[in-house]
Amino acid sequence: MILELSLAALTILVVVLLTGYTARTGIAPVPTSRPGRELVLASLPEVGGGTIVEAGSGWGGLAVRIARAHPRARVIGYELSPLPWLFASLRRWIGFTLNVRFYRRDLLRVSFQEVDVVVCYLHAEAVEALEPKLRAELPSGAVLVSNTFPIPGWRPSEVRQPQVRFDAPVYIYRIPEAYSGQAEEGG
Ligand SMILES: C[S@@+](CC[C@H](N)C(=O)[O-])C[C@H]1O[C@@H](n2cnc3c(N)ncnc32)[C@H](O)[C@@H]1O
Repeated sequence: MILELSLAALTILVVVLLTGYTARTGIAPVPTSRPGRELVLASLPEVGGGTIVEAGSGWGGLAVRIARAHPRARVIGYELSPLPWLFASLRRWIGFTLNVRFYRRDLLRVSFQEVDVVVCYLHAEAVEALEPKLRAELPSGAVLVSNTFPIPGWRPSEVRQPQVRFDAPVYIYRIPEAYSGQAEEGG
C-alpha cells in the first residue's frame, strides 16, 4: 500500500514538473529527431578546443552526441526543466562523456560572450526573445545553428534541408554577417 502510494506520488510529481516547466518555457523537452540530429551535427563547424553551447538541451541526447563528435571542445547544455536536466547530467556520467556539462539555467540569464557555436531547437517566440541577447553577446566569428526556427530579422549563411520528408530545415548563421548591413538594406 505504501509502495503504491509512493509510486502514485512520484508519478504526480513527474507529471506536474514536466507540464509546469513546459508551460513556463513554452516548449516540451521533445528531442530532435534522428535525421534532424544528423543534420545539426553535419552543420557544426570545427571548433578545436572551443565552446559549443546547446541552448535548451532537454534530455541531453544531442549535446552528448556533439561532445563525442568534438572531443576537444567544451560542450555546455543549458536547460531550465529539472527532470530533463537531471537525466542529461546522469547521461554524462553513464556515458563517461566528460567534455559535456549540463547546467540548470534560464537561457535569458546565461552569457553567450565566450561561445564559438550555439545550437538550439526552441520555438518561434523563444528565439525571438533570445535574439537581442545573442546579437549583443555572441562574439564575431561565432556560428549559430537553429533547428527548425529561423532567427527573426537575421540572414542565414546557409539553410540545410533534411533528406526526410516532413522534417524541418536547419538554419546556419555567422556572426556578425547574419545581421550586419540590415540598416542599409532597411533604409
Ligand atoms: C524542443 S526541446 C529540444 C531539446 C534538445 N535541444 C534537442 O534538440 O533534442 C527545447 C528545450 O528547450 C528548453 N528551454 C526552452 N526555453 C528555455 C529557457 N528559457 N531556458 C532554458 N531552457 C529552455 C525546454 O525546456 C526544452 O527542454
